[in-house]
This record gives sequence, structure tokens and C-alpha cells, in this order.
Amino acid sequence: MILWISIVVACLLKEAIGQTPIVLWHGMGDDCCNPKSMGAITEIIHSHIPDAFVHSIRIGESESDDRNAGFFGVLNDQLEDVCEQLASIPELANGFHALGFSQGGLFLRAYIQRCNRPNVRNLITFGSPHGGVSDIPNCSAGDFKCALMRSMVRRGVYTSYVQHRVIQAQYFKDPNNFKGYLEQNIFLPDINNQGESQNATYRSNLQSLGQFVMIRFDQDTMIVPREAAWFWTLTDDEQDPLRRLQEQALYKEDWLGLRQLDENGQLHFLTAPGKHMEIAQDFFVDEVLKPYLMDQAVTKPKLLHQPV
Ligand SMILES: *[C@@H]1O[C@H](CO)[C@@H](O)[C@H](O)[C@H]1NC(C)=O
Ligand SMILES: *[C@@H]1O[C@H](CO)[C@@H](O)[C@H](O)[C@H]1NC(C)=O
Repeated sequence: MILWISIVVACLLKEAIGQTPIVLWHGMGDDCCNPKSMGAITEIIHSHIPDAFVHSIRIGESESDDRNAGFFGVLNDQLEDVCEQLASIPELANGFHALGFSQGGLFLRAYIQRCNRPNVRNLITFGSPHGGVSDIPNCSAGDFKCALMRSMVRRGVYTSYVQHRVIQAQYFKDPNNFKGYLEQNIFLPDINNQGESQNATYRSNLQSLGQFVMIRFDQDTMIVPREAAWFWTLTDDEQDPLRRLQEQALYKEDWLGLRQLDENGQLHFLTAPGKHMEIAQDFFVDEVLKPYLMDQAVTKPKLLHQPV
């Protein structure tokens, strides 16, 4: 009887103190399972935290569906799928750390605000367009899906047709047409609580984070402005178009809880050397993995493992 109880206790404790699982969401033009991107990140994580459970988000039935979903679809629907997907994974039930790459980081923030069941502990975003982009990202040569995406946007980024089909249009913020953005963009104004009525759940969910780490690349030319990775945004002020987060009502009036996180020391602005998504391994390990992903003090109670 005593033996049985101590085994049960040992198992429960192991679960409670085990390494926090990690969820990845890839960027535009990429997919869940590319060995050179999310695969490489997973390998680095496992080389430092061998027992970490890592899940890479996939939308659709295949890797090619998933890549396609990064260009085409309705983000609000994709997020509902992701909420169901993450809720169905038993290993994530006690919460996880979320690592978002480029647009995937923005979408993980939206997951937290809209669902957050299971809950995110630390959110880390790499070059994610939190403040919106004021130029549709360029395509690499030979990327036909991306070229199709750009040609569709030419029909008018704030038309209902494009808004309901092109992902990048759903976080496009035209500095010279703020009204069009607020009224026609079906995703970003809502998720940034910029609409007429704000959603208090978005704020409380984001505030429930342990740490929120936003990384921008100092030579990013993919997202315009590159500081959108820190929530900065372009306005129609010709002399001084760039607004820092701290200068925006979104921060000052704390529409998303960012100011509160900042005042508590839970909001972090990092700069990574390099171009968009050129993540140096040293930077990843020293600035991200060790401080924010690796659980501290994973000391197992030795006594419980002794023979009874
Ligand atoms: C706020 O967002 C939550 C989560 O998406 C949703 O369930 C709720 O209906 C929203 N509230 C309002 C007033 O729109
Ligand atoms: C895309 O390429 C054009 C031409 O090189 C450049 O002017 C523009 O700034 C680029 N846009 C982005 C988002 O990189």
C-alpha cells in the first residue's frame, strides 16, 4: 500500500515539475515541418532540453496545405482551428511556452487573446508584425504562391474580396488610410483593441503571461517598418511618421495590458543582429532558450525515488 502511494506521488510530481512544453508557429512561406527552419529550432531546443515536448503548429492536412494557409485564408477561422488543435494535445494541458516566427508570432498573440486554453506562460516573437505592416512583404524568386498573393492584393488591400482571402492583407496597416484600416481590416484592428469597443478578455489574457519577449531584427527589410516587431507603427505624419509603442494610446491607455506588463518588468524588447529570420544560434540559445524556455530549478525530489 505504501509503495503504491509513493509511486503515484512521484508520478504526479514529475508531471508538475517537468519541463514546460514548447509550441512553435512558423512564418510566411514556411511550414510546420521544414527540417531547415522549425526542424532546426526543435533540434537546438532538444540539444539543451532533451525532455522538452515540442509541437509545431500545422494548419490543414499536409505540409503543403500548411504553407498555403500562410498566404490564403481567413485568420479568424485559422485561429479557431489552432485553438482546437492545441486544446486536443494532452501534453500541453498544463500550459506551454510559445515561440512565434514572423507572422506566426502575431498569430500566437492572437491565440492568447482569443483562447489561451491551454494557457501560454512565456511568449517569444521573432520579427512579428504586431504593429501591422505598411508594405506587403516581398517574395523570394520562384515562390509562385507568394507571387499570387501579391497580385491578389493589387485588387485593393481593403476590399472585402482580398480581406477574406489574403492573410497578409489582414495585418496590413496603410498609414495614409487609417479609416480604411479600422473599418475594413478584418483582423488586426480587432486584435490590437483599436476598434470602437475593446475586448477586456484580450487584455486580461495577455496580462496573464509570465514574460512577453519581442525580438526585432536590426536589418529586417521584410516587414515595414521593422520596428513593427516592437509594436511601433507608421502614421501619415510626413515629418515624423514612426510612432513608438510608448507614444501610442494603445500603450498609454493600456488597451492590451502591455503597459502593465512593462511596469511589472514582464515585457522585453530585444534586438537580434541580422536580416528577417536570420536567427543566429548563439543569440537563440543565450538570449531566448536559457532565460525564457528552460525551466529553472528542475530538481526532482530524490527521496521519492528511493526504494521504499
Ligand atoms: C471577447 O473575446 C472573447 C474571446 O475571443 C470572446 O469570447 C468574446 O465574445 C469577446 N467579447 C466581445 C464583447 O466581443
Ligand atoms: C520590395 O521590393 C521593392 C523593390 O525592391 C522595395 O522598394 C520595397 O521596399 C520592398 N518591400 C518590402 C516589404 O520589402
